Amino acid sequence: MHDDVILEIRNVSKSFSGVQVLSGINMRVRKGEVHVVVGENGAGKSTLMKIISGVYQKDGGELLFEGKPIEVKSIRQMQEMGISIIHQEFNLLPNRTIAQNIFLGREPVKKRGIPVIDIEEMNAKSRELLGFLGLNVDPRTRVSSLGIAQQQMIEVAKALSFKSKVLIMDEPTATLTRNEISKLFEIIRKLKNEGVSIIYISHRLEELKEIADTISVLRDGALVGTLDASEATTGRIIKMMGGREITNQYHREFCTEVGEEVLRIDNLSSYRFKNVSLKVHRGEIVGISGLVGAGRTELIKAIFGFDRFESGEVVLFGKKYRRLNTSMTTRLKVGLVPEDRKDEGVIVEMPIRENIVHASLSQLFKNGILNKKTEAETANKYVKELGIVTNSIDKHVEYLSGGNQQKVVVAKWLCAQCDLILFDEPTRGIDVGAREEIYEIMNALVKQGKAVLMISSDMPELLGLCDRIYVMKDGRITQEFSHSEATQEKLLACSI
Ligand SMILES: Nc1ncnc2c1ncn2[C@@H]1O[C@H](COP(=O)(O)OP(=O)(O)OP(=O)(O)O)[C@@H](O)[C@H]1O
Ligand SMILES: [Mg+2]
Repeated sequence: MHDDVILEIRNVSKSFSGVQVLSGINMRVRKGEVHVVVGENGAGKSTLMKIISGVYQKDGGELLFEGKPIEVKSIRQMQEMGISIIHQEFNLLPNRTIAQNIFLGREPVKKRGIPVIDIEEMNAKSRELLGFLGLNVDPRTRVSSLGIAQQQMIEVAKALSFKSKVLIMDEPTATLTRNEISKLFEIIRKLKNEGVSIIYISHRLEELKEIADTISVLRDGALVGTLDASEATTGRIIKMMGGREITNQYHREFCTEVGEEVLRIDNLSSYRFKNVSLKVHRGEIVGISGLVGAGRTELIKAIFGFDRFESGEVVLFGKKYRRLNTSMTTRLKVGLVPEDRKDEGVIVEMPIRENIVHASLSQLFKNGILNKKTEAETANKYVKELGIVTNSIDKHVEYLSGGNQQKVVVAKWLCAQCDLILFDEPTRGIDVGAREEIYEIMNALVKQGKAVLMISSDMPELLGLCDRIYVMKDGRITQEFSHSEATQEKLLACSI
C-alpha cells in the first residue's frame, strides 16, 4: 500500500498576510487513482493545489514525490518532474494558436541549421495530443476562437505534453455540458489506465461517483477526512463539508401572473446567432438551454451591449434600441453576471469594496466626492448578505476563491438595483450551499418584480428555476417551453 503512493502531503500549512488558509494538511495520492478533493468555497482547495504545483510556497510541512522529499521552487520544475495543474481560471494566450499554447516556452527547435522553431513538428505533436483527447480541431487554430469547453481540453493537452504523472484538475467540469463531461471522464479513465494519478476538484458532488477512487474533504483550511469512494455518500460528504443539508434547493414559486415586459428582442442577428426573438417580463426567471457553442453567451452579451449585433432590435423597458453599449445598459439597470468572471465580471486587481460599488458610483458620489463611509457600509452589507468569505472588504478580488469572486459580481448588480439581471452559468464553480444562496437571490429578485434571464448547462437547475425556457441550437432558438411542459429529454432533444 505504501509503495504505490506517488505524492504525499505531510502537515502542510499556509497563511496569507497573517490569515491561516491551510493548517496541518495530510493527504496521500496513490499511483493511477482519481483522488477527489471537495470543500465549500474558500475551504482552501485551490491553495493546496497551487502549493503542490509550485505556484505558491508552503509555510510549513513536507511534500514527498515518489517517496522522496521535494523542494518546490517553480511551476516549470514541477511540470518537468511530472506534476501539472489545470487551474480553475485558464491561463491560455488567446491570440496564439493551440500548438503555440501547448508548447509555450519549450517549442521544438529544428536540429539542423540556424535554430528556429520547428512549427511543423509542434503542430504534428499537438495534433497527436488532440487526437488522443478525441478533439477534432486544427492545432493552428487561435485559442480565442475556441469555446470554453475546448479551451479546457487544450489545457489538458498542454498538461499531457509534459508526460505528467500527477495531473491536477481544479474544477474541470464547471463549464462543460453533460456530453463534454462524459468525454472528459473517458479521458480521465484512459489516463488512469496509463498509471497517471488525477487530483480532481469539483463542486458537482453527483458526478464524483462516476470517477472517484478516494475523496478528501477540506473545511476551513483543515482536512476533515479521507474516504474510500465506496463508503462515501453525497449526504455524508455534504455533512463533512459544512453540515448544511440540501433539501429542495430551488425554493421556487413559479410566476402565475407576469408583469410588464422588460426585455424583448426581435429578429436579432450577429455572426454567432440568427433571427433570435424572445421576451422577458417582470417577475419571471427565463432560461436559455443549449449546448456549449450554440450562441447563448454571444446572445446575452449582445443584449448587454458588450458585443454588437448586426440586425434586429432590442427593446428594453419599452424603448427600442438598434445599438447598445454597456454604459447604456448599466444606466438602464441591466446587469450581466458573465461566464468568464475573471476577464469580464470583476476587476481582479481592485479591492472587493470598489468592485461592489463599481456600477453604482453615481449614487455614492455627493458633490463630486465619493463618500468612503457609504462605500464601506454598502460593501460590508453585501459581503454579509451574500456570505462572501473574506477578512476585509479591502482584499483584492484576485485573492478571493473562485466562488467568492462570483458572489462579488452578483453583489455589484444587486448594489446597482438592477431591474434585469442576465446570468451566464450562474453557479459555475459555486459550492452546494452557496448555490442555494444564488437561487435565493434570484427568487428574491423576481419577487420584488425584477426579472432574470439565465443561461445554464445544468438542466436540473433550469427546470427547477425557470418559468420559461428557450432552447438554442446553432445560433437559433429551436423551441420555447413553459415550466410545466419542459423536461430534460425535451430540452436535450431540441439542442442536438
Ligand atoms: N494569494 C492570496 N492572498 C490572500 N488570500 C488568499 C490568496 N489565495 C487564496 N486566498 C484565500 O485563501 C482562502 C482559500 O481560497 P481557495 O482559493 O484555496 O479556496 P477554494 O477552496 O479553492 O474555493 P473555491 O471553491 O471557491 O474555488 C480564501 O479565503 C482566499 O480568500
Ligand atoms: Mg478554488
